[in-house]
Amino acid sequence: MDGKLHIVGIAGSLRKASFNRMLLQAAGELMPPDAELEILEIGNLPYYNQDVDEAGAPSVVQEFRAKVQAADALLFAVPEYNYSLPGVLKNAIDWASRPVATSGLKGKPTAVMGASGGAFGTVRAQLHFRHVAVFCDMHMVNKPEIMVREPGKKFTPDGRLHDEETRELLHQLVFALVDWARILHHGRAAVQS
Ligand SMILES: Cc1cc2nc3c(=O)[nH]c(=O)nc-3n(C[C@H](O)[C@H](O)[C@H](O)COP(=O)(O)O)c2cc1C
Repeated sequence: MDGKLHIVGIAGSLRKASFNRMLLQAAGELMPPDAELEILEIGNLPYYNQDVDEAGAPSVVQEFRAKVQAADALLFAVPEYNYSLPGVLKNAIDWASRPVATSGLKGKPTAVMGASGGAFGTVRAQLHFRHVAVFCDMHMVNKPEIMVREPGKKFTPDGRLHDEETRELLHQLVFALVDWARILHHGRAAVQS
């Protein structure tokens, strides 16, 4: 990995005014100059079906997988649905996780954050996400944790994050992910050389 670090961002919500997509967009603004964020949409992925996958995944899935594989790092913004991650996000992860041998999630530097209306700001959904990440062998950043409560008070109506405390945490998370990605990639290069 030389030059600019390419981070792929995925929000687990299809909602037009999704706070989690806004959070990702704010992360994009806070990237250091040597990193960039590309936000992928997951609403066009079909439901995972192993028969379809084994017969040849549809082109929309192949494109999604290729982008995840090519990413230097991943950043997820996870809403909380019924104490867990939304099905639409789990579906995207399921597609990205197969075939196991070429999974773009495996060994990938990854960070998670989330925004929800509830009092705990996605803490349970993020814990479930981390559970899934273990099996998929994503290499997670542990801190800082970002659980955005009352997002309606922290974003402007046009989607800009104006809450200074959250912006500072987000800044720290983005830099922690970039550092973690460089550490892992350089470490691997050292082991391989
Ligand atoms: C089906 C459903 C289940 C939800 N369950 C929870 C929940 O368990 N905990 C919580 O804090 N918020 C819950 N919410 C509220 C969402 O977290 C909130 O709508 C959030 O803004 C969704 O993320 P988004 O703005 O990115 O779409 C739920 C919302 C929906 C639609």
